[in-house]
Amino acid sequence: MRDAANLKREHFHVKAPVNLFEFEDVARGKLRAEAYEYYAGGANDGITLRENRNAYERLRLRYRVLRDVSLRDCSTTVLGQRIAFPVMVAPTAFHKMACGAGECATARAAGRAGTIMVMSTLSNTLIEDVAAAATGPLWFQLYIYKDRGATLDLIRRAEAAGFQALVLTVDAQVWGRREADVRNGFKLPDGLTVVNLAEHAKAAFPDGVSGSGLAAYVAKMLDPSLTWDDLEWLRAQTKLPVLVKGIVRGDDAALAIKHGAAGVVVSNHGGRQLDTAPATIEVLPGVVDAVAGKAPVFVDGGVRRGTDVIKAVALGATAVMVGRPILWGLAADGEEGALAVLEMLAAEFDLAMALCGARSVSEIRGDLVDSALAR
Ligand code: GLV
Repeated sequence: MRDAANLKREHFHVKAPVNLFEFEDVARGKLRAEAYEYYAGGANDGITLRENRNAYERLRLRYRVLRDVSLRDCSTTVLGQRIAFPVMVAPTAFHKMACGAGECATARAAGRAGTIMVMSTLSNTLIEDVAAAATGPLWFQLYIYKDRGATLDLIRRAEAAGFQALVLTVDAQVWGRREADVRNGFKLPDGLTVVNLAEHAKAAFPDGVSGSGLAAYVAKMLDPSLTWDDLEWLRAQTKLPVLVKGIVRGDDAALAIKHGAAGVVVSNHGGRQLDTAPATIEVLPGVVDAVAGKAPVFVDGGVRRGTDVIKAVALGATAVMVGRPILWGLAADGEEGALAVLEMLAAEFDLAMALCGARSVSEIRGDLVDSALAR
């Protein structure tokens, strides 16, 4: 693993970051305030945003000793794909606000780190260009538009470009109220658009709105009438596995599996949708129980440390997804910064495995987590 301290010092106003929190500090200094606040913000009072993080900090690891941890294997398999460690790149929007190469930089960083990038519908880069830049597997995060033709077109393009799975986001057909974006009248900078919807005249935020331009875009474009039948509809449109992202309850997870989901992502959208929703790590065990091994369960929200990854895996996650830290890496130093974030997390995870007495991901079990959550 490359040490982040090797990053070129001139890219940073301060010493090179030694953890993911310090990447955020660097990014904050580099991004326009409006962009930083869009990425960083949560809904309303930010209770869920903070709780996602705080819940990891409350969990304690009951490590095991004297287990010969001299050889360790951090890799794992998700939907048949081997990845270097149980961390994937979560879908996040508008990477060109963070760096010029945008989603292409992210895809290259994910590939170099040996993991999967989930590309957002709300990207600033064409699906085909991200696929051409990528050196690793890609999944496509899908929002269902009122215009099903436009939605199908996204699916066809992702299939043709070689994406390996669709991740249907189900917690954001109606937009959460991110007060920073309302205050800032959030808009995309000149030259950036929701470019993959351009052929359907859905690339730009509506003109002349007050408040968040993105909230206005979502209200105009996305379909708030979705039900479980639409998951069936989506499955019938594609041979790709469809995962459902935005689940916080066991009963919804069971419904997702019943309607054919190939996996679920325990997510509250990074605390950006329903404020006071529970921390994802706290609801993960209930979802894992309900899914009962029928499909992989992923979790995002608040993952900043290798120990968080171990906790999530111990509580039944196949892998975690990280969102904002990738944006901080991109803002700090483009592809190299996003790679440094992933490598830092990989190194922390490897160390945490060693210190927990786990030599492989399969040895990370519930007994490591000292909590009422442990199963
Ligand atoms: C996009 O999905 C966002 O949360 O802004």
